[in-house]
Amino acid sequence: MSVRINPSILTADFANLEAELARIANADLVHVDIMDNHFVPNLTFGLRMVESLQRVSPLPLDVHLMIDDPDRWAPGYAEAGAYSVTFHAEAVGDPVALARKLREIGARAGIAVKPGTSIGQYLEILPEFDQVLVMTVEPGFGGQSFIDSTMPKLRMLREAVTRSGLDVWLQVDGGITEETIAIAAEAGADTFVAGSSVYSAADPAAQVDALRAAAQEHSHSA
Ligand code: DX5
Ligand code: ZN
Repeated sequence: MSVRINPSILTADFANLEAELARIANADLVHVDIMDNHFVPNLTFGLRMVESLQRVSPLPLDVHLMIDDPDRWAPGYAEAGAYSVTFHAEAVGDPVALARKLREIGARAGIAVKPGTSIGQYLEILPEFDQVLVMTVEPGFGGQSFIDSTMPKLRMLREAVTRSGLDVWLQVDGGITEETIAIAAEAGADTFVAGSSVYSAADPAAQVDALRAAAQEHSHSA
């Protein structure tokens, strides 16, 4: 199984994002955290910034919407050219309708769950998605510690994906380091978001390689 490393620019230098993207050229996608200070108690940036990033990024954009009312806002990110658009299960009205809309525009559709949200009810709508994001910290801030108790959800998802034969990426986000990436890979994740562990490293590209090697070593051979 191939693994993907998606650095989050949340801890990058916002005044120099084009240069910050060049430092992770060996990554798979760039993870872009959109926060509205309502769904989460923090604020980042919005659609205009994503449109600008889209113009200069050598890597596809993996947009993570930590916002209320994604039904209203998510399609705009797909129209801006984001490779994937992930909205939160806790914020959406009709996840299937929104996922279909995103796919129709041409983006991969993702659904995210906070650490305390169970995954059971979403297993039956898995075919509607290209990616499921299991948050491994409470969304809102970089630099928090990985929450181990989220791993049973990943195991459940990996089992469901394997059983169904669907090609749904299983993403983790929050507290990913060379140690925790092994735990998440072993539990079934194949797509890894890492913010501070990449951007606080002296050589972010080398850290991307190190994370990829650790994930590959522990990933399922399915
Ligand atoms: C947190 C964001 C993450 C964040 C991860 O709400 O969704 O993408 O950037 O940062 P680290 O890797 O530092 O936990
Ligand atoms: Zn994120």
